[in-house]
Amino acid sequence: MDSSTFTNEEAKELLEAQNNIWKHTFYYLKSMALKCALQLDIPDTIHKHGKPMSLNELATSLPIHPNNIPSLDRLMRILESSNFFSKKLLEDGGYGFDLTLSSQLLRKKHPLTQAQFALTLLEQMLTDPSHHLASWFQNGAESSFHVLNGMSFWEQVSHDSKFNQRFNEAMECDSRFVTSLLVNNKSFKGIFEGIETLVDVGGGNGTTVKAITEAYPWLKCSVLDLPHVVQGLQEKASSNVKFVAGDMFEGVPPADAVLLKWMLHGWSDNDCIKILKQCREAILSKNKEGKVIIIDFVVESENDEMKSKETNTKYLFDMLLMSIFGDGKERTEHQLKNLFQQAGFSDYKINPILGLRSIIEVYP
Ligand SMILES: C[S@@+](CC[C@H](N)C(=O)[O-])C[C@H]1O[C@@H](n2cnc3c(N)ncnc32)[C@H](O)[C@@H]1O
Repeated sequence: MDSSTFTNEEAKELLEAQNNIWKHTFYYLKSMALKCALQLDIPDTIHKHGKPMSLNELATSLPIHPNNIPSLDRLMRILESSNFFSKKLLEDGGYGFDLTLSSQLLRKKHPLTQAQFALTLLEQMLTDPSHHLASWFQNGAESSFHVLNGMSFWEQVSHDSKFNQRFNEAMECDSRFVTSLLVNNKSFKGIFEGIETLVDVGGGNGTTVKAITEAYPWLKCSVLDLPHVVQGLQEKASSNVKFVAGDMFEGVPPADAVLLKWMLHGWSDNDCIKILKQCREAILSKNKEGKVIIIDFVVESENDEMKSKETNTKYLFDMLLMSIFGDGKERTEHQLKNLFQQAGFSDYKINPILGLRSIIEVYP
């Protein structure tokens, strides 16, 4: 293309391409604006006010330095464009900021809050490794996280008790959200028919199992997780929940069904096969009620015409897994099926009832 002879159409395309580059160069600032809103407590402040809040009201209620009050409208503008706040007309003819459903879910005291999830996932411990993706591709290290920290993510978490707590609270946000949607869902309830015992492998602080046993009180559940995660949790647990400190690669406590929520995507194919084999071994009944229940993403394949608006979020999550775990990944149905077969399972059923994620039953 000769730069002195652009047609109007060529010039338009060039400018659009430049816009695309700039948009993606600066996209991380959308995440940082979200982080800033959470750190300044903007969703809770508007909620406490009880009605849409003018910029002045917001500025005087937030913990911000007077010098920087004039910049608040710029922060609110980008957050509004990301659908975190909406503008409403006020009685005095001005406008105020109201919460959207997304920012309701960012209130720290909302029963389904996602605030701690977003805050933890935006910590430098999780965002910094993505700066080292190219070195990881070049030098063959385990992961970008490893390039930066010289150890795996789970090793690092075991050495940092404060981050361990924040990470488990972040997972708890998701577990509360997911289980509250699932426990009243008929097809989810059906999954537990004929099951008396369940083990949640990598079940964190037991939030998922707590909600499940409250909804289905006949179930006896175990939570298997690493020692630093389950330490001290048994004392506070109900009588039908047992915490087991252990390593899923070495063994899984026996049960009618095994739950794997957000587990397989953090591991390589070989590791997933090892985990699934341990789960299969643990299943007491090899009949239809014996099963592994997986709650995870199923990514649409390249040429799948069913790509949805959620697909891009799955691709972003996949990049996070690439930077933290290297060969941990979000998988297509075909990739999951291969894992199930190699681990000796006979059949599976995918139930896409959870928005971005599916419930997958895998039968021995
Ligand atoms: C992404 S979190 C998912 C937690 C929980 N299942 C949920 O969805 O909220 C992965 C969990 O696996 C646990 N984990 C990692 N390696 C493990 C191992 N070798 N054995 C047992 N649990 C492990 C972690 O401690 C963490 O709680």
